[in-house]
Amino acid sequence: NETGCLSIIVLGASGDLAKKKTFPALFNLYRQGFLQSNEVHIFGYARTKISDDELRNRIRGYLTESADAKEGVSEFLQLVKYVSGTYDEPEGFQALDAAIAEHEISTNTAEGTSRRLFYLALPPSVYPPVCTMIKAHCMNKSDLGGWTRIVVEKPFGKDLESSEELSTQIGSLFDEPQIYRIDHYLGKELVQNLLVLRFANRMFVPLWNRDHIDNVQIVFREDFGTDGRGGYFNEYGIIRDIIQNHLLQVLCLVAMEKPVSLKPEHIRDEKVKVLQSFLPIEDDEVVLGQYEGYTDDPTVPDNSNTPTFATMVLRLHNGRWEGVPFIMKAGKALNSKKAEIRIQFKDVPGDIFRSKKQGRNEFVIRLQPSEAMYMKLTVKQPGLEMQTVQSELDLSYTQRYQATVIPEAYERLILDTIRGDQQHFVRRDELKVAWEIFTPLLHRIDNGELKPIPYKAGSRGPEEADALLERAGYVQTHGYIWIPPTL
Ligand code: BG6
Repeated sequence: NETGCLSIIVLGASGDLAKKKTFPALFNLYRQGFLQSNEVHIFGYARTKISDDELRNRIRGYLTESADAKEGVSEFLQLVKYVSGTYDEPEGFQALDAAIAEHEISTNTAEGTSRRLFYLALPPSVYPPVCTMIKAHCMNKSDLGGWTRIVVEKPFGKDLESSEELSTQIGSLFDEPQIYRIDHYLGKELVQNLLVLRFANRMFVPLWNRDHIDNVQIVFREDFGTDGRGGYFNEYGIIRDIIQNHLLQVLCLVAMEKPVSLKPEHIRDEKVKVLQSFLPIEDDEVVLGQYEGYTDDPTVPDNSNTPTFATMVLRLHNGRWEGVPFIMKAGKALNSKKAEIRIQFKDVPGDIFRSKKQGRNEFVIRLQPSEAMYMKLTVKQPGLEMQTVQSELDLSYTQRYQATVIPEAYERLILDTIRGDQQHFVRRDELKVAWEIFTPLLHRIDNGELKPIPYKAGSRGPEEADALLERAGYVQTHGYIWIPPTL
């Protein structure tokens, strides 16, 4: 039942995630009319004892920053209430339940249902006690229907064992359809487009396999370091922070077979099959890096072995992809900030232009910034001579969709949690296999058996990574660069 009184409870309301992502996303949904003020109430919950107004003032600045329009901020903030309490004792949760119930009675919707969405903007160490308390004190009690859902975000543990333990604890309290595991990359416009691109275009159907594709790269680069998050980051490292979740989810959508239908379970079934097809990662197909200056952060130990950069080759053992390297690359403190997928095609057999060519066909899906898809092609250089040149077919979103504002990932995903659509959320079995793939490698890094190579902040990362890319078969196009169109 998707109508009736809706209560959104943000636990960890004064934390970074809540301020920077959750509340701004809720505000944007409100502005666009998805949260009706006559049926929605938002509750912040945290340990600090502050008033409703103090919480409102803390989040106000983040709302105006994230949205171009300032209208509606005060109205929206009036929907936000605050309740304080600990994360493991009944008192706070009983008070929270009473506050929610009071609003449910006063809202008095025709249906009389109650929908309760608990957003855990908290570290996973407190997920078990918080879930226990919600289950004991805060569940939807309406006889007329409605639901209780919880939203959680990574890190879901540190390896297979700790993740399974967490899943078992949460799973003993809530059923899978009530649990929404966010991976915000699944909320990005061009990630969501992958399904359409691959399965609604006849052109790609015959090409999307080992017969035509030489290698695939999934790249995440940031031009800043751990920026005050060193304490968290040092415990996890770039593989757990980016590759095991964000990039792997993208890979699944690039590599999976056509789902039986668009039903969330059909799509997630196909993703699980991809994850089950990975071969073990080979040590000589991994390059780790750590930027110089990383350990200057006082919360990072001087002898830290944590990688801030990794390039690795993943290999799938299945009929479509046997022999095609999937190169995953992620790094902090590099020379640029972008995320993209690069599908590089094989050379033309018996190529008569070989000596004149600049590079291979490559299909690039730019996830951010400057969302775009462009296909690198060889064309005749316009003019009198028979020269060839590398060019592209370019679908740049800023140009093609000028009137459209691309929604923030969190905005879209929170709307899905309210609507009850789990397609863009990670299922428990998916999470488990994702950990199975990386746990042996992660343990070798944690034990110090594999060491990161130092690289200069602001560089391309260790040179060894480029060498690995070349070994895997990636052919760099020299003298060509894609320039995003300006309006
Ligand atoms: C988060 C990571 O999940 O994703 C951060 O913890 C990273 O380290 C961020 O900076 C990147 O997200 P986006 O949407 O800016 O690419």
